[in-house]
Amino acid sequence: MASISTLGYMVLGVRDLNAWERFAVDVIGMQAGRRIPGRFLALRMDEREQRLVLEASGEDDMLAAGWEFDTEEALDEYVAQLRGRGVDVAAGSGELAEARRVERLFACVDGDGLRHEFYFGARRAAMSDAFRSGVLKGAFNTGRLGVGHFVAVGKDGGEAQAFYRQVLGVRVSDYIRGEVAPGATMEVAFFHAGTGRHHSVATAQIPFPFPKRIHHIMVEATDMNDVGLAYDRCIAAGLPIEMGLGHHPNDQMFSFYVKTPSGFALEFGFGGIVVDDATWEVKRYSQLSDWGHRHPVA
Ligand SMILES: [Fe+2]
Repeated sequence: MASISTLGYMVLGVRDLNAWERFAVDVIGMQAGRRIPGRFLALRMDEREQRLVLEASGEDDMLAAGWEFDTEEALDEYVAQLRGRGVDVAAGSGELAEARRVERLFACVDGDGLRHEFYFGARRAAMSDAFRSGVLKGAFNTGRLGVGHFVAVGKDGGEAQAFYRQVLGVRVSDYIRGEVAPGATMEVAFFHAGTGRHHSVATAQIPFPFPKRIHHIMVEATDMNDVGLAYDRCIAAGLPIEMGLGHHPNDQMFSFYVKTPSGFALEFGFGGIVVDDATWEVKRYSQLSDWGHRHPVA
């Protein structure tokens, strides 16, 4: 059984590319890569040519998840498995592979309109063009663990959970059922891929209508101080903090959440654990955070 190695990139459709560039580069610490003015901006987080891809779009939402395979054989085998289960998986064009900076890719679309791209062979930047952040003390924790994670808010959370588990084949890490507002509970299921970031994706069943496909995306730093420094930069820039500093009981992530220029949040974290399938036990938790992550009082 071929399986996904990690979440290698995310594609966001954003209304205001300039605001996003200021946010991602000056506040979060990414590096602007190649661009097509007014249409496209690649953001770098490491030696790859791109990790976060911004496309001009009125949607202000996540457009695609890039699922990485270690070998071309694993990619082909995986696509054959999906097709064998009746999933409509199309081969991506050479033009799309070029835009994503990968060798080959395939794609399918889930019930919530999010594209899942399956690829092999992400391109590295030239050695002379090393990644440089203008503000990070350390680096982004990417490499084999991938770009980070996203939390999908399915129109029907149960269906989304089944899609990730049964169709995509990512494995359950754990579940949290917690209160998000007085009397309103939310169930979140967390899924890891092959290289073991605690979750590359989670699905949330939110007890009220939600306008986006995702609640947030997450990027992780290798230095705990970068969480505090990024938090200070958000405050200095007057950006809305959705949840202050806090700690999640399941992935052990120390983080905060800031509202992006697209309205959904970005979690900036440190210290997330890596799952070892040989010893991992799936647990259920009853709170989303063991301390902090409070909504700021206006
Ligand atoms: Fe998160």
